[in-house]
Amino acid sequence: MKPATRWVGLLGAALAATAAAATFGLASIDGWSADEITLLASIRLQELPPAPPDTSNAYEASPAAASLGRQIFFDRRFSGNGSVSCASCHEPDRQFQDGKPLGQGMGTGARRTMPVVGAGYSPFLFWDGRKDSLWAQALGPLEDPAEHGGSRLAYTHLLKSHYRAEYEAVFGALPELDRLPEDASPLGTREQRAAWRSMSEDARQQVSRVFANIGKALAAYQKTLRHGESRLDRYVDGLVDRDPRAFAQLSAQEKNGLRIFIGKGQCITCHNGPLLTDQHFHNTGVAPRHPGQPDPGRRAALARVRDDEFNCLGRFSDAQPEQCEELRFLATDDHAMASAFKTPGLRNVALRAPYMHAGQIATLTGVVRHYAAAPPAQAGHSELKPVRLSESEVRDLVAFLGTLSAVAGPVHPSN
Ligand code: HEC
Ligand code: HEC
Repeated sequence: MKPATRWVGLLGAALAATAAAATFGLASIDGWSADEITLLASIRLQELPPAPPDTSNAYEASPAAASLGRQIFFDRRFSGNGSVSCASCHEPDRQFQDGKPLGQGMGTGARRTMPVVGAGYSPFLFWDGRKDSLWAQALGPLEDPAEHGGSRLAYTHLLKSHYRAEYEAVFGALPELDRLPEDASPLGTREQRAAWRSMSEDARQQVSRVFANIGKALAAYQKTLRHGESRLDRYVDGLVDRDPRAFAQLSAQEKNGLRIFIGKGQCITCHNGPLLTDQHFHNTGVAPRHPGQPDPGRRAALARVRDDEFNCLGRFSDAQPEQCEELRFLATDDHAMASAFKTPGLRNVALRAPYMHAGQIATLTGVVRHYAAAPPAQAGHSELKPVRLSESEVRDLVAFLGTLSAVAGPVHPSN
């Protein structure tokens, strides 16, 4: 059974059990029934299993690859103008995001920067899931003119002049580059594309392989990032261990917000598991940033991920074809996915306004009001049903979302 399905199953059991507890007067702990506690226990950080291995990246568990990836992540030379690194938008002391409504690199993007901690749990990356691995994802911004705006050949030269030993220790010898142009890519400017066409098929493949390896090193680094423990985790640990000293971790208002979150707010149907996401895509009727220009979201990304040269079934993947289940069983035309976006995890959510895929909503109060109103979608169909919430319940839910912040923030492990 998929984890998400398991958690939804627990939800049903908890709701039934609440009714049973009310009828039969079963004992509760700090006001929660045994089945509610089972459900709450499932969202604790403790329950987070190790991220599933990515069979398309043979280097993801290599500390040497992660160390190279960390250096590239912060190195601004990997850009068209020498001033953009991954960390320009994914700032470590801001949960690896930037607090802006739209990503800002060499230009302005169309969507909001996503936090990267926990991204290794997602079968599909980006708000629309147009990449099927963390390493393939990293290659997008590197050649996007609005982000790093550089080319795969320029990056290969850069590796050779600055990271040769580190690279070759992990991935083997870099190709001979002396007779190749400085700058070339199949995706870039007219000049970059012309230069790419002038190269032999063999040289193009070797450069694309180095480019894929840059992604694999970046993925290995990002997979080492972890969430810190939040007050909610400590509270639920206390419920599970029946330790009354932990009951004060949450205020009465926050506990009421939690009750709404798992109860009548139905938030947990999509925001479930220890990361508070089902890793699926939903249309929740969030208005496009520019009225009249709807973002097609997941629906338009389905063909893109299928056709991506860097996907799990492609020549740069380390997986056997039968290991690429997510991709092989992908329905590539799905009306229900029109303007659907990935459910974001909610850990640390109070620390990263503005919200939604293009920063359309400025505050958490605004987000909760959106769920209360459940407006019809401007494109596709919203899955939401209005939730009747009083003003004080809106405040309770917002207060609860604040309990998901980690005191220590994302931490680097010792390796
Ligand atoms: C200009 C700002 C910018 C730069 C530079 C940038 N990103 Fe991003 N990142 C974004 C935005 C915006 C999104 C969401 C874009 C979308 O969904 O279309 C994103 C999404 C992601 C995601 C997806 C997370 C998820 O849960 O699906 C990861 C991982 C990521 N970036 C890693 C990187 C890495 C690694 C680099 C460096 C190679 C990088 N980013 C460079 C802005 C940036
Ligand atoms: C049908 C699935 C679904 C339900 C139910 C749901 N959410 Fe969401 N949530 C999403 C999706 C999808 C997004 C991103 C939407 C977008 O960007 O267009 C989101 C975004 C959010 C965000 C913004 C996070 C960020 O980083 O931008 C918050 C906060 C949030 N939801 C809280 C809640 C709360 C509280 C409830 C219950 C009242 C709830 N959600 C119910 C799917 C859902």
